[in-house]
Amino acid sequence: MNNKIEAVVFDLDGVITDTAHFHYLAWKQLAAEVGITIDEVFNERLKGVSRMDSLELILQEGNRENDFTLTEKEEMAAKKNLHYCDLLKQLTANDVLPGILELLAKIKAEGLPIGLASVSKNAGTVLKALELEDAFNFIADAAKIKRSKPDPEIFLTACEGLGAAPVRAIGIEDAAAGIEAIKASGMFAVGVGKSLQGADYLVDSTNQLDWDKIKETYEEWLKNSIK
Ligand code: BG6
Ligand code: MG
Repeated sequence: MNNKIEAVVFDLDGVITDTAHFHYLAWKQLAAEVGITIDEVFNERLKGVSRMDSLELILQEGNRENDFTLTEKEEMAAKKNLHYCDLLKQLTANDVLPGILELLAKIKAEGLPIGLASVSKNAGTVLKALELEDAFNFIADAAKIKRSKPDPEIFLTACEGLGAAPVRAIGIEDAAAGIEAIKASGMFAVGVGKSLQGADYLVDSTNQLDWDKIKETYEEWLKNSIK
């Protein structure tokens, strides 16, 4: 049996660039407008979660889940997106997180297909600002994804788009919901950040994403998974 990796699939917000922080600032502002205070600890639960699902979690946090009609909630989500898009205006090619360009280059040099699995409808804008539009062989379309992370749908879609078997693919995530989605898809999960239980390989920050170590750990994991 060979240990060939068939694809590497990246999350965007919080892995390729620090837009996770912009999402947080935009939600914090929107939440404050309806009298709800959120902090960075609570924000961990929003990472990787779709816009409307994030709003529901925030309203629940403030015990206001029954206080708004669907139209009002849609308006609130749109407002948050405006805050977020405003923050995105400052994003440039210098905002790719440390180590990511090097990692992408190493994977590409081995001829491996690279995918993007972000549930953000702003992924295209972010990639353009980072000048990374051509870095991916397949970008899963968030608009076509029916179930947000932790459902595996987006990672399975990316694997399919890249022609890779999930067990032969590596997913890289900064969110608990994302790690859960990768594991539910049957892929090998690389976590970036703290308290990402369930990651098969965990680092604190993107500059610690060492491709040789990831491959080594993946091969061990594969051996154990097919025992
Ligand atoms: C994910 C982020 O990538 O995209 C979430 O981690 C965000 O925080 C989600 O809610 C949806 O993004 P957008 O840009 O469509 O509101
Ligand atoms: Mg993320």
